[in-house]
Amino acid sequence: MSDKAWGGRFEKELDAIAARFSASVDVDGRLWPQDIDGSIAHVRMLADRKILSSDDANEIVAGLQTIRASIERGDFDWDESKEDVHMNIEAALISAIGEAGGRLHTGRSRNDQVATDMRLWTRQACESVVADIDALLEVLVDKADGHVDFLMPGYTHLQRAQPVRLAHHLLAWAEMLERDRGRLVDAAKRMNESPLGSAALAGTTFPLDREATAKALGFNRPMRNSLDAVGSRDFLLESVSALAICSVHLSRIAEELVLWSSQEFAFMQMSDAFTTGSSIMPQKKNPDMPELVRGKTGRVVGSLVNLLVMLKGLPLAYNRDLQEDKAPAFEAFDTVHDCLAVLSGAIASARFDKERMAAALQAGFLDATEVADWLASRGVPFRDAHHVAGKLVHQAIQEGRTLSELPLEAYEAAHDAFDDTIFLALDMETAVERRDVVGGPSRARVTDAIAELRGRLQARRDA
Ligand code: ARG
Repeated sequence: MSDKAWGGRFEKELDAIAARFSASVDVDGRLWPQDIDGSIAHVRMLADRKILSSDDANEIVAGLQTIRASIERGDFDWDESKEDVHMNIEAALISAIGEAGGRLHTGRSRNDQVATDMRLWTRQACESVVADIDALLEVLVDKADGHVDFLMPGYTHLQRAQPVRLAHHLLAWAEMLERDRGRLVDAAKRMNESPLGSAALAGTTFPLDREATAKALGFNRPMRNSLDAVGSRDFLLESVSALAICSVHLSRIAEELVLWSSQEFAFMQMSDAFTTGSSIMPQKKNPDMPELVRGKTGRVVGSLVNLLVMLKGLPLAYNRDLQEDKAPAFEAFDTVHDCLAVLSGAIASARFDKERMAAALQAGFLDATEVADWLASRGVPFRDAHHVAGKLVHQAIQEGRTLSELPLEAYEAAHDAFDDTIFLALDMETAVERRDVVGGPSRARVTDAIAELRGRLQARRDA
């Protein structure tokens, strides 16, 4: 007879290629902490419900603790022929404590077991990425605080548009990350229900206490439907979607770091600790870390697509396809964790160049809107004011001057509402300060935004 764990009805061993093809322990082995926690919760409940004797339960719990210690020490003997993490641990338990070990799986299936393990793992992984995001937010708020006085061009279409503060730009990144954080927190809340006790698909004949195991594992409640509990993975779609959006944000931030550290912009210098040289060009200092963050986005978006396609078309309840959920989920969480850590270090150690940013404000007519606004605030319809300002920009380009270098006569010729106070409006600091609206770049709005973000981060640390 075969020694398969589900052995009785099988006469032949699994074909070697089939065994290798279906084994997953190299990927799901990292679920061991969740698997052991889940088993302990299950077996204690079985004893409370008198489904198992307390002697058996105690023996099983002690055996599982020994296995946990052995895995932690690194001397656990993982065996691919035992297929997955669940069978590896259960087999080790049975070989360590004998008959009692064989009672652990009473009223349980690997289907509810793996769904439980994955929810526990993902809940924790969301928490840890949320902490990574908070760490990057701390870096951004500190950098913003130190760079309120740095004026720079704001861009649309990557063309110099209007002046802003560097702090305002950094706080824009923070807002994007803040929403990413919110999406992960929401996903973690919704996934926090326990599949355990749903068994293979239809529950079990044993009088399990699903509330008790849910509570022991920190879930809010047992999942309401056993078919759904073992067959659904939208908790992964949701959290990995949040990660995919986050990594698109990280990629956009990374792209700006790459641009800004180019000689064309030279708005910043990345630290040597986060740049690399070239094997052939001695002068090079390349922003490889943000480039890799940008490049790794494909892994995370790919993981989401992988999960969506894997799930599409699956009938209820459990299907073996679901085993393929782990690699993309792990990849997405690991990648975003690394990207957040690298960006935190790269941004914290970067130095911004105030003069270069200020110089960039001098070319590009970033004060053209000021001219239009000046006229509009004196009663000229904005559309007309825009046209007049455009003509003045055209004239300045022809004459190779800036708007503030044009003489007053040029303004007066363009529109009779002009007087010499127009030149006060052309100062960049003034232009930024006049943008004193909610969400704007004026000093007061930016320092308020910094204080508000600091307060939020502090409240989270205190919580
Ligand atoms: N390794 C499997 C997975 O991750 C565990 C569940 C196996 N269940 C089954 N009926 N073969 O999905």
